[in-house]
Amino acid sequence: MIRKIVKYPEPILSQPGEPVTEFNAELRKLVADMFETTYASQGIGLAAPQVGASKRVTVIDLSMGKKPEDKLVLVNPEIISSEGRLYDEEGCLSFPDIREKVVRAAKVRVRAQDVHGKWFEMDGEELMARCLQHEIDHLDGILFLVRMSALKRNLNLRKIRKMQANGEW
Ligand code: NI
Repeated sequence: MIRKIVKYPEPILSQPGEPVTEFNAELRKLVADMFETTYASQGIGLAAPQVGASKRVTVIDLSMGKKPEDKLVLVNPEIISSEGRLYDEEGCLSFPDIREKVVRAAKVRVRAQDVHGKWFEMDGEELMARCLQHEIDHLDGILFLVRMSALKRNLNLRKIRKMQANGEW
């Protein structure tokens, strides 16, 4: 089922998600819906708060549904180490039509649980590193807007307000 993606400034986007403690059918349904919603929006990642579920769950698929083996589910993820710096363009499904350069670590190591509760660790570089940091930020209630320079943030906020005024947001 495709779920509705909430847009900035919905308060749920700025709240830390609740840790997941039950690895049940409800969680599996949420994850399946999140993949479906991501593909329908042509995104590469989505965090549960973006579909109105304040939980520490995120899905990533850099192949956008083309390679089943690329489907990645991270439950209760945390970044355990990071290195380097990369300044590159980023977007967010909760900010339609906004793309902006954001500084991120170039490499990260993440620890997370899978949909069954099993812990695993993984490394990500470049786009995967960026995506992991962006989605894990969502689970902490941090939006990519706050990762922008103050100048870029203000420009984008002005753009959003203009779109809101025109009924385009
Ligand atoms: Ni996002």
